[in-house]
Amino acid sequence: YIHRSFKHLRAQVLACVSDPDLLESGQYPSDVKERAKSILAACGGQSVGSYTMSHGIELIRRHVAEYIERRDGHKANWQDICLTGGASNGIKNCLQLLCNKVDGKDTAVLIPIPQYPLYSASLAEYGLGQVGYYLDEDHNWALDINELERAFLEGSKTHAVRAIVVINPGNPTGQVLTRNNIEDIIKFAQKHGLFVFADEVYQDNVYDKDSKFFSFKKVMTELGAPYDSIELASFMSISKGYVGECGLRGGWMELCGLQAGVQAHLYKAISAMLCPTTLGQTAVDCVARTPMPGEPSYELWNKEKTAVLESLKQRAKMIVDTFNSMEGFSCNVVQGAMYAFPRIELPPRAIAAARADNKLPDVFYAFKLLEETGICVVPGSGFGQRPGTFHFRTTILPQPKQLQEMLDIFKDFHQKFTKEYS
Ligand SMILES: Cc1ncc(COP(=O)(O)O)c(C=O)c1O
Repeated sequence: YIHRSFKHLRAQVLACVSDPDLLESGQYPSDVKERAKSILAACGGQSVGSYTMSHGIELIRRHVAEYIERRDGHKANWQDICLTGGASNGIKNCLQLLCNKVDGKDTAVLIPIPQYPLYSASLAEYGLGQVGYYLDEDHNWALDINELERAFLEGSKTHAVRAIVVINPGNPTGQVLTRNNIEDIIKFAQKHGLFVFADEVYQDNVYDKDSKFFSFKKVMTELGAPYDSIELASFMSISKGYVGECGLRGGWMELCGLQAGVQAHLYKAISAMLCPTTLGQTAVDCVARTPMPGEPSYELWNKEKTAVLESLKQRAKMIVDTFNSMEGFSCNVVQGAMYAFPRIELPPRAIAAARADNKLPDVFYAFKLLEETGICVVPGSGFGQRPGTFHFRTTILPQPKQLQEMLDIFKDFHQKFTKEYS
């Protein structure tokens, strides 16, 4: 949850589709009313109280396809867009496609370490194997193809490795992959016949002036044959970006290169869950169909979007600079997403104290921080990290004043902790 002002288009469209009487009240601009009316017209009985198609309202799927075309400069088929109840649902639905053995071997999926725990949890839930590949902390958490090959080879000893997850921009690591890096990953996936899960929910959250978001779909299309026919699912969400409507549960996936029968099977499987919420779908429409220059809502929308992203950019820098000024801390630049994942050196006495307390050292540190200051961070072991290294994840979301206050308290705590255990 980032920000809400009841003035802006998204909130107004949500209000109008929920209470259509507002359309006659004269308090909303024409572009808001037109959007709300067209969504209502696409709903059964002109009401957001109706179920929709399981893959979402056709009008909104078409708007998403147009958004992707504007983003990438390449054709997107609306029939390949499936609206989801947040990216999480889409990711889980696609992982379920892999729940079978191949030549007697269980299926496994390559996932980054550190990773967003939805992946490890879902793989465990579905009985799928997890093959971790380490991100390269010394190169701003890039993906090293030699490490991918190592992990693939290792995993293939026991499993049929059939898919790779890439999170770009990264959670918890905050990196934005370069185009070259993405090309190499696509070539690697094509070579081994892997289904690519491109988790691109932070595509609007890029802060570093030297970084740019490239979608896997765009890069794959531009690489041409044989790379443009790999199986790819790209995930997007209304929970992130400048939007932050995480409680409404909305998102989409774009499917590329799936056999028609497989895609039909996926659509059939999701139909058992009926449909994503209509308000989530409405918010997706507002994200995909942003106001254009000349429309009444454009200026306010643009002002708010710019302000939110600019502020996140400043906070990303503030947090990295502060952590890097602390003894025993090293923190990569937060190029994108919403988190910093600093590495911390813990004194041997702190590690021994953690062991005596039956806790992992990073968990011990995080608990001490919480108990002594009220600051809550997530220990690196929750995401995975190279053995012998310690990290934690914190978010850049608190407002600047609160964030500065938090960082000052954190700095103070760390000095005391280091003194106590050195
Ligand atoms: C990398 C990543 N993927 C997916 C999700 C899930 O997003 P949603 O709220 O759309 O389910 C998150 C949420 O934090 C995330 O960080």
